[in-house]
Amino acid sequence: MESGALDFALSCFVADGDRIAFVPTMGALHDGHLALVAQGKELADRVVVSIFVNPLQFNDASDLERYPREKESDLAKLEAAGCDLVWLPSASDLYPEGFATSVRVAGVSERWEGEHRPGHFEGVATVVAKLFNEVVPNVALFGEKDFQQLAVIRRMAIDLGLCDNIVGVPTVRETDGLALSSRNAYLSLDERQQALALPRALEAARAAILSGNAIDDALGEGRNSLLEGGFSRVDYFAAVDAETLEPLDRLRAGMRLIAAAVIGSTRLIDNVAV
Ligand code: PAF
Repeated sequence: MESGALDFALSCFVADGDRIAFVPTMGALHDGHLALVAQGKELADRVVVSIFVNPLQFNDASDLERYPREKESDLAKLEAAGCDLVWLPSASDLYPEGFATSVRVAGVSERWEGEHRPGHFEGVATVVAKLFNEVVPNVALFGEKDFQQLAVIRRMAIDLGLCDNIVGVPTVRETDGLALSSRNAYLSLDERQQALALPRALEAARAAILSGNAIDDALGEGRNSLLEGGFSRVDYFAAVDAETLEPLDRLRAGMRLIAAAVIGSTRLIDNVAV
């Protein structure tokens, strides 16, 4: 559905007293996205999905250009999943001529992805604020795979009073442990195999920390195993507080291990709860 018809469809849902679950996406949908739709169906009467490849959140023009666009198969998957409404805004719907506002979430957005992808979270927060303003959801669902993004959106939604029910849905993994990601499509067969070093390194670090090893040692071990496993660069491999994303140097409730690393021309991120 294009933006013109969105307001009418949403007003029908509201007139019927339906609660709306919202799943914002950039398309190239996989089972991780469909898990968000399934969870949305549990939590509300109607599920609305948006598909928009948001130029504001790409700090690299070639990354934006090669991002997969699979409209027809996305629509078929959403229909099969029982999604009630798919919104396909255009760039000019969201960012009309003269658009000059940016949403910046201080603190939680600054480290990790924020450091390695300057402007990324401003782009995410800006588009999600715009989308929330249009859809006015009762509940919105995001994957835990983008763990820092989830924390940034939670903070923004509270601060701007946009949606008081942000739900994080656990990462969906392949049977061998690789987290589903639209970017996995870039991996060659060899890289796909080597990429398993990422979930394995996170699991090993988690086990090491839980069995009493020093956090720094466990993280250093994790970084090394990624480089030995075929990754060419590790942007970060860190233990953080799940809410603030501040680094932790001792085991605490709510600790999360987060990592980002590059294999071939693909940058992958993943995380696990400790
Ligand atoms: O996670 C994504 O797919 C995007 O960052 C989001 C939340 C749809 C904003 O463009």
